[in-house]
Amino acid sequence: MTRMLVTGGAGFIGANFVRSTLASRPEYEVTVLDALTYAGDRRSLDSVRDDIRFVHGDVCDEELVDRLVRESDVVVHFAAESHVDNSLHHADPFIRTNILGTHSILKAVRRHERRLHHISTDEVYGDLPLDSPERFTEETPYRPSSPYAASKASSDLLVRAWARSYGVAATLSNCANNYGPYQHVEKFIPRQIAAVLSDERPKLYGAGLNVREWTHVDDHNTAVHLIVDRGRLGETYLIGSGDERSNREVVELLLRSMGLPADAYDLVPDRPGHDLRYACDSTRIRQELGWRPVFPDLTAGLPAVVDWYRDNQWWWDERRQQSEARYRLLGR
Ligand code: NAD
Ligand code: TYD
Repeated sequence: MTRMLVTGGAGFIGANFVRSTLASRPEYEVTVLDALTYAGDRRSLDSVRDDIRFVHGDVCDEELVDRLVRESDVVVHFAAESHVDNSLHHADPFIRTNILGTHSILKAVRRHERRLHHISTDEVYGDLPLDSPERFTEETPYRPSSPYAASKASSDLLVRAWARSYGVAATLSNCANNYGPYQHVEKFIPRQIAAVLSDERPKLYGAGLNVREWTHVDDHNTAVHLIVDRGRLGETYLIGSGDERSNREVVELLLRSMGLPADAYDLVPDRPGHDLRYACDSTRIRQELGWRPVFPDLTAGLPAVVDWYRDNQWWWDERRQQSEARYRLLGR
């Protein structure tokens, strides 16, 4: 058996990762470390409750992290504060969890000589012009815009330094925007689905022209497994489906698929510093590791996600009230 420590395993991507790992990889014994912040939810792991060890704790707790890492063979580090709008409002938890938390993981994997895979985002590269064929590559210089992106960039640079200077056996991945079940309703796609299901109108920031590359969470997690299995140590892999869409196109697609007029949305004040466009060149992971998204296109993955939110209102109802209260303070 391989003992795997998954940090942030009660969050959106981490919980999907834990469930898919247990379903397809019987060789793994999984421990989840999660602080259960507003974004974590133990109920996302209900179906595997008896098959994992769950530790309620903080990645910044160095003693705890040291013990859990010592008891593991491989660490997949998802835990983070993850929402740009929250980071613009109050950056402190981002600096703490994303930077100091990653440092705490690095100290332990170095001390115990364990394998680390660090999960990150394409937002570290800043943004691209709206109408250009340009894409981020693994060599694109870091140019983060938001406190969230800057804290993730810092964590990536720490991992790269620990790999180079201390020989820590680490890989990194920077993925485009994810969508899928169990995503917090503060995020763009679930926020709009939950609004429509609550007889409210979707909200687009600015003119809705900003572009994101939408990757299904299961495709992201398949890529993570390939990297853990066969990724080159010290390397970074960009992950993205290739499906770029403006936010307006996404909302129009959603509204139509939910039986409403495509223009039944509202424009709200823009996010400060709003990145225009993200797009990843994922040639490296496709060529080296043979990764292919099962959902190369948002239209293929979205209907099942809409169904999931329709069937699981118990999961998101209360959290929606909390996140909409936060958005009201921000005027969005
Ligand atoms: P999320 O906010 O849904 O989940 C984060 C999880 O981390 C939660 O369960 C939370 O309780 C936990 N956590 C937060 N602070 C912690 C701490 N101090 N100690 C222990 N646990 C803590 O986030 P997500 O969308 O699942 O993102 C997971 C990772 O993937 C992050 O590193 C994020 O930067 C990265 N990422 C996300 C996306 C995306 O589109 N969501 C895209 C690319 C990369
Ligand atoms: P988000 O899910 O916050 O991800 P990120 O900012 O990390 O890319 O937002 C995705 C895009 O959707 C981004 O351009 C901001 C925009 N957006 C809206 O237009 N309306 C909303 O209600 C939200 C939450 C986001």
